[in-house]
Amino acid sequence: VARSDKDQRSSLVLSENRYPTGWFQIAWSDEIARGAIKSVRYFGEDLILWRGEDGVLTCQDAYCLHLGMNIGVRGTVEGNEVKCPWHGWKWNSEGRNTEIPFSELPCKTNLKLKTYPLVEWYGAVMVWHDLLDREPMWELDVIPDLEGDGYFPIVPSCRIVHRIKAHPQMPLENSCDIFHVSFVHGGQPGELISLEFDGPHAIEQLGIDYGVKREKTWLTPDGEQQAVIHARMGGIGNTWLKFPDELIAGVQLTNVTPVDDTYSDYWFGMSTRRPDEVSEEPAGRDRKMIDLQMKIIEQDFFTWENMKVLHAPNFAPEEAKNYSALRRWARQFYPNLDDGQPFYAEVEEKPAEID
Ligand code: FES
Ligand SMILES: [Fe+2]
Repeated sequence: VARSDKDQRSSLVLSENRYPTGWFQIAWSDEIARGAIKSVRYFGEDLILWRGEDGVLTCQDAYCLHLGMNIGVRGTVEGNEVKCPWHGWKWNSEGRNTEIPFSELPCKTNLKLKTYPLVEWYGAVMVWHDLLDREPMWELDVIPDLEGDGYFPIVPSCRIVHRIKAHPQMPLENSCDIFHVSFVHGGQPGELISLEFDGPHAIEQLGIDYGVKREKTWLTPDGEQQAVIHARMGGIGNTWLKFPDELIAGVQLTNVTPVDDTYSDYWFGMSTRRPDEVSEEPAGRDRKMIDLQMKIIEQDFFTWENMKVLHAPNFAPEEAKNYSALRRWARQFYPNLDDGQPFYAEVEEKPAEID
């Protein structure tokens, strides 16, 4: 059965299906000091992020279970609990009510404020989101380069967050869209060397030629250089890239988190290898590479802001295979799509005849 674009059975359109399952970044770790509380809004929900005096960071639904106050507005952290500003009820990092200040009843043990599984991952605050409230189904990757102190931490000057008008799947799909590169980023098209899937992970090798036909550039002082970039995606919202050491010893994080039905936050952070023990952040060529990557990510935004999602897109034969494979893999992260419909129309993988 042919599907038209009036057919709205896609997770990219239906609001109740918009929020995929997985790990998503909602802040940088150093934005919330001990004893601090921050209000954020993701997955269409108001949330609080607070850090106890013990250093533990907690993400919870913002609304107090007493009478519904948003605790993020004038709420305070006391010890390892958060206190609602309206009647002073306290909640701990498991979401349990621990104090009712004005009652004979010390607390209501049956209450539980929704609390999100949270991991601080190389400076990014990642929470597990699942519409069906299932426990985390995979762990965040260990990035060997970022273990220990051989690489810089992702300091504020090496990171940025953009609010974009796009579903998080658009930046994900961009990673296998080789043919937009020359138009949008002004470079060579590059080559998708491999794209493999392993449960919730997609692993990609991307071949890019730098400094093509130039005797030397700041990045390629010895002339043209072919680089193989390794990308690893955990679900829809969590991607990291490793640049080859011969080009630049660098790791890039790009995490995309749905805010509501229209917007997402696109988090970018980059780290490079420490050249010595005294430097505190990337300099020289490394700094330039970070600035370049920051610029490159922004170049895509106008496409997502000015497109509509075609449920039955028309792929050229050269791109159909990878696009279809990535979309089929991504389908698993939308738990509410149980209507038996394909996520997208199946795509022709062989060259079509021209009539
Ligand atoms: S609404 Fe939070 S203590 Fe009353
Ligand atoms: Fe792009």
